[in-house]
Amino acid sequence: MRTCLSASWIVASFAAGVGLAGAQTPDAIAAGYADAARAAAPGFTGFSAQRGQRFFQAVHSGEWSCASCHSANPLAQGRHAKTGKTIAPLAPAANPERFTNLATTEKWFKRNCNDVVGRECSAQEKGDVLAYLTQRAPGSTR
Ligand code: HEC
Repeated sequence: MRTCLSASWIVASFAAGVGLAGAQTPDAIAAGYADAARAAAPGFTGFSAQRGQRFFQAVHSGEWSCASCHSANPLAQGRHAKTGKTIAPLAPAANPERFTNLATTEKWFKRNCNDVVGRECSAQEKGDVLAYLTQRAPGSTR
């Protein structure tokens, strides 16, 4: 099992985290977003956890913010604003399964950004949110 996981991680890492499913890490997914953000804007200077936090907490074009369903504290359990179903925490420190599968991450970013922002999020926005969420890891330096 362990061997299996690290083998697919290596494959996924070599693919630079673009468009492939499989076991990944938050860092590998962030690296893929950094490549995409740099391609979209040559002046790209990196991701900001602070900007990600503002984006996550703000109401954009609709009635919901990301925090409406995920709670204002990404280490805490969320609650779906419409169905009332509980949602496991988004921060990897509280939920190690988060951001370990690019296809899952992309699927939900797409759906939730459309609901909250009225369009897909840019690579810059996704990377900023990811930086904010992973910064919630105790001992993390980002
Ligand atoms: C209407 C409720 C709702 C809103 C608003 C919402 N989400 Fe979600 N989100 C969900 C649900 C439901 C899931 C899938 C269930 C799960 O993963 O626990 C999910 C999953 C995710 C995931 C998957 C993470 C992973 O890889 O496991 C990410 C990332 C995410 N949401 C980000 C956001 C962001 C960013 C916003 C704001 C732009 C947002 N969500 C707004 C309901 C919501």
